[in-house]
Amino acid sequence: MSVRIAPSILSADFSRLAEQIAEVAAAGADSIHVDVMDGHFVPNLTLGPVVVRGLRKITSLPLDVHLMVTDADCLIEPFADAGADHLTVHVEAGAHLDRTLNLIRSLGKGVGVALNPATPVSSIEPVLGSVDLVLVMTVNPGFGGQRFIGYTEGKIRALKQLVDRERYQCAIQVDGGINLGTVERVVTAGAGILVAGAAVFDDRDPGARVRELLEKASSVSYHSKYV
Ligand code: DX5
Ligand code: ZN
Repeated sequence: MSVRIAPSILSADFSRLAEQIAEVAAAGADSIHVDVMDGHFVPNLTLGPVVVRGLRKITSLPLDVHLMVTDADCLIEPFADAGADHLTVHVEAGAHLDRTLNLIRSLGKGVGVALNPATPVSSIEPVLGSVDLVLVMTVNPGFGGQRFIGYTEGKIRALKQLVDRERYQCAIQVDGGINLGTVERVVTAGAGILVAGAAVFDDRDPGARVRELLEKASSVSYHSKYV
């Protein structure tokens, strides 16, 4: 399957959100990545279910909700009701990951688990058979526009090898510092979904930036098959 792009609206112009989402959708974005921050798990505060309800009205693309919150359990249902399609929670946040993942599944939503840069892949090994997506954070979560952390590349590679070896069905998503300069590294390491915020929206033409990233990713995946 070819590499997909999920633009993160964290860096979008919220006064022109509908327009910007339409532009990235037309350019081939696969889903819209929605970063939810609670000011506790991460030192920043963003948006709640009411915004997802609004997004649901303006796009038919899947809404991929990344919960960077300490207490995900009380927010899962409200975001699901608001129109989220996928919900990703952090392994570092809750005490009962298995219960939290089951809750997402019981609501009929895509199930994702996220790892901070310094959290080892082994911490999610027990649940790899029951998630649709693993999000490998390639920056410390909390802010857009940060620099890619180099050692996460090895984690993506290790996760990809494990997923292939055990034939797990989950997608590998990377998030943070993804741009034209880092696409090659993460795609070669095994990433299948690229979240990109600043690289897409810190520009006058987000659609062109999505097309560029997709083009770069497909040239890399073509090469890595044959080299
Ligand atoms: C960071 C968020 C990311 C972020 C990525 O905490 O989870 O989704 O928006 O932004 P860029 O692509 O700007 O690093
Ligand atoms: Zn994110």
